[in-house]
Amino acid sequence: QDVFVPPHPLIKHWISVLRNEDTPCAIFKNAMAELGRLLIYEASRDWLPTVSGEIQTPMCLASVEFIDQRDPVVVVPILRAGLALAEHASSILPAMKTYHLGISRDEETLQPTVYLNKLPKRFPDGCRVFVVDPMLATGGTVVAALELIMERGADNKQVKVISAVASPPALQKLSEKFPGLQVYAGIIDPTVNEKGFIIPGLGDAGDRSFA
Ligand code: PRP
Repeated sequence: QDVFVPPHPLIKHWISVLRNEDTPCAIFKNAMAELGRLLIYEASRDWLPTVSGEIQTPMCLASVEFIDQRDPVVVVPILRAGLALAEHASSILPAMKTYHLGISRDEETLQPTVYLNKLPKRFPDGCRVFVVDPMLATGGTVVAALELIMERGADNKQVKVISAVASPPALQKLSEKFPGLQVYAGIIDPTVNEKGFIIPGLGDAGDRSFA
């Protein structure tokens, strides 16, 4: 399966801060943002196209590579909690665009409802899309988001999911519905309980970031 948990001590550190129920809201949100920065960095490796050129340094001409900005890089945070995980995306991705998706999960039925859709009518050819949501629990929310994105012309290879904590049922759903789509997670937790919470998890990421 195309699921990556980058083995990095800083990723482990921020997951541990997020797990702690005593972590205050402001620190939680900052930990989520730092985790997002690291995961987006890892997911960008070998994925973002570059263009070569030459520039004059103070010493001589040098061969250089830049991110090729003709291929747009797009970040789709899934509100609310995705806003915290995506917060530092703009500081590491040159010239990215943000398209917000608001999706909330019914506490009883666990069904997702889209309440805000700022996606473009069509994603341009060659664009790269990061879908950012801290929690992949039952997987209903991320699947709903990906269906909206694929309807607009993106394919499985153009999209990566960035998540703090992923669960096996969500990853199973993703690999069935979107084969070849890569997921970058801070950690994979074993269980989703009957209320749809990941165990051990980190609680309600939206409430802990913004409530
Ligand atoms: C939470 C979480 C994910 C979703 C995961 O969002 O942030 O988006 O549930 O659940 P699923 O994989 O079972 O669909 P929530 O609906 O609580 O919204 P919030 O981010 O505004 O708190």
